[in-house]
Amino acid sequence: MNTARLGHAPTLDIHFGDNLPIIQEFPSASFDLIYIDPPFNTGRTQARTQIKTTRDDNGDREGFKGKRYRTVRVGTKAFTDTFDDFLGFLEPRLEEVFRLLKPNGSFFLHLDYREVHYVKVLLDGIFGRDSFINEIVWAYDYGARSKKKWSAKHDNILWYAKNPNDYTYRYEDIDRIPYMAPGLVTPEKVARGKTPTDTWWHTIVSPNGKEKTGYPTQKPLGVINRLIRVHSNPGDRVLDFFAGSGTIGEAAIKQHRNAVLVDSNEEAMSVMAKRLTFACPTFHNWAPDPADLPEPTLLDTIGA
Ligand SMILES: C[S@@+](CC[C@H](N)C(=O)[O-])C[C@H]1O[C@@H](n2cnc3c(N)ncnc32)[C@H](O)[C@@H]1O
Repeated sequence: MNTARLGHAPTLDIHFGDNLPIIQEFPSASFDLIYIDPPFNTGRTQARTQIKTTRDDNGDREGFKGKRYRTVRVGTKAFTDTFDDFLGFLEPRLEEVFRLLKPNGSFFLHLDYREVHYVKVLLDGIFGRDSFINEIVWAYDYGARSKKKWSAKHDNILWYAKNPNDYTYRYEDIDRIPYMAPGLVTPEKVARGKTPTDTWWHTIVSPNGKEKTGYPTQKPLGVINRLIRVHSNPGDRVLDFFAGSGTIGEAAIKQHRNAVLVDSNEEAMSVMAKRLTFACPTFHNWAPDPADLPEPTLLDTIGA
């Protein structure tokens, strides 16, 4: 039953463990939208060390008005981003994606320039070339620039529709962006803005903003909200089985979609437990320490 359409709160399920055996248990054709953001095979351990600074006249950092601060490491969140055989790892999971999608469901695969071409060929084999609808380029422009080549400042998101003639695309719900040359169009058009193309300019999660969870590779809500809003309907079921900090969960629940998240990293579970308390998640194969959790604020947050 489509509970969110009946006015009930959307449901959130969070599973702990290797995603393959978990998603193999889910019934066929049970999701409207599947998004995944697997580790990119960078060969590194993805880690983010969290620090806080405290006032200390002998500290290692200088701040406002010459005051000195001491840097204190409060912890490191990390997961391994190395697979000997990335495509061999991904392939059985992508076959599950095809099985799990409803007949009019869509799949979004978030990758970077190193892997996208290989995985595109793999997905064409699973979905059929006709099912490939778009390659969305998320361009972010942040951080240092190379002096030896063009700096790579984008990720790639491949969109496949199970049926290329029947999928969700809520055109009226697309957020509008400013014209680049407003002088060339009418004032009415300038006031309304234009729809984005397949290149989405959006900053990364701000290192010191409210959105940041501290989890490495956290994706910005601005990008993920747009995906959820345009490619699913209220009450739909959304799956992310490389969930990390739970960005898909937050975007889905706040837009009245039901979400199922999976991750094999305890750190990710702890981050999600805190971030998504407002949605009263059901945990599978894992339990949060109640002392770590903020008070649930479901009614305040849903529909905000
Ligand atoms: C790139 S991160 C996802 C980040 C997420 N999109 C976000 O916004 O926070 C990839 C995640 O996949 C998880 N992961 C890697 N292998 C996995 C597996 N076999 N089963 C479940 N999760 C896995 C890692 O623990 C990591 O949290």
